[in-house]
Amino acid sequence: MNTTLQLPPSLDEKRSLQFCSKLNQSDGAVEIELDVSPVRWAFPFGSLIIASQVRRLRKHANVQFALKGFEATKPAHSYLSHIGFFRLLGFELGNAPGEAPGGDSYLPLTVLDKDSLFIDEIFGGDSMHKAIQKKAEEFAKLLTHSNKLSVIRPVSYCIRELVRNVFEHSGCIECILGGQRYQDGRVLVGIVDYGRGLRESLSERYDVPSDIEALKMAIRPGISRSVPDPEDDNPWANSGFGLYTLANLGRRTGYFSITSGQSILALSPGGAACDSASHNGTAINIIFKKLHGTNLEDLIQQIISEGELQLEKSGQKVRASKSTKII
Ligand SMILES: Nc1ncnc2c1ncn2[C@@H]1O[C@H](COP(=O)(O)OP(=O)(O)O)[C@@H](O)[C@H]1O
Ligand SMILES: [Mg+2]
Repeated sequence: MNTTLQLPPSLDEKRSLQFCSKLNQSDGAVEIELDVSPVRWAFPFGSLIIASQVRRLRKHANVQFALKGFEATKPAHSYLSHIGFFRLLGFELGNAPGEAPGGDSYLPLTVLDKDSLFIDEIFGGDSMHKAIQKKAEEFAKLLTHSNKLSVIRPVSYCIRELVRNVFEHSGCIECILGGQRYQDGRVLVGIVDYGRGLRESLSERYDVPSDIEALKMAIRPGISRSVPDPEDDNPWANSGFGLYTLANLGRRTGYFSITSGQSILALSPGGAACDSASHNGTAINIIFKKLHGTNLEDLIQQIISEGELQLEKSGQKVRASKSTKII
């Protein structure tokens, strides 16, 4: 069966998720033609989620893809080809992912694969965690365009925790990162995987009735599929503070959304919202906004302390792992 699917005019979070819902319903298709002619506005996060779902269908369901309607003269199309979108989808068009040097405002879509991080470790290079830390710092520097550690470190911290999560929990062999810096100083980071998703990974330890419950659970302090071992002083142990911290940062400053399976949960200073979605795997979108007079590093430490206190009050002895506290 062959199908043609039209991409939406705007590749924003909402419309890209709606498109992915159609894409994932075509699971039985042998060939899908992607018609990009309607696309007028392209954004990094929407591009990431579409790219990850197309890659999943190509790799795991053997679906073939064809491209229709590309016009190099359209600004949104040339942006997409520059950031590596079409190559990610498997077409010989534009830059390869990670190839563009990164303009002054965006990070090219970049694939990190587990094998190459591991191979480095096997041949005596950096450990997996160190390699992730290095990549996270590299991306954060490019994105923030700053030399100030106080500006780079909070962004690098979040990227590190998100990449770790993909390789520690999702079972996916790769994750894709993208980002954007806006003129008003806000910084967006997006990361997607097409692994097993939150509900399945949390079900190793908890009763998780639905995707939305999994999302709500995952952002609470101390929630982790790994059972904490008080004797274990491994700094990289899983203590269930990663998503809690990132979600609260978004809630208090800019924006945080987490999508997995059939649901999306979004948090911002304006409140929380849930909606339906379709993402096989996990996708996270964070917008950092510099708060007047607030250092984001201090805010992260404050959020972690509040989480620990919350657990202590409820009689749980879980504390954030050492690595979670090192920004
Ligand atoms: N990308 C992902 N894919 C699947 N499950 C995930 C992913 N990210 C997080 N999780 C789930 O959410 C839980 C909470 O994540 P986090 O707050 O970072 O804590 P930790 O990594 O210390 O367990 C993880 O233990 C895991 O079950
Ligand atoms: Mg984690």
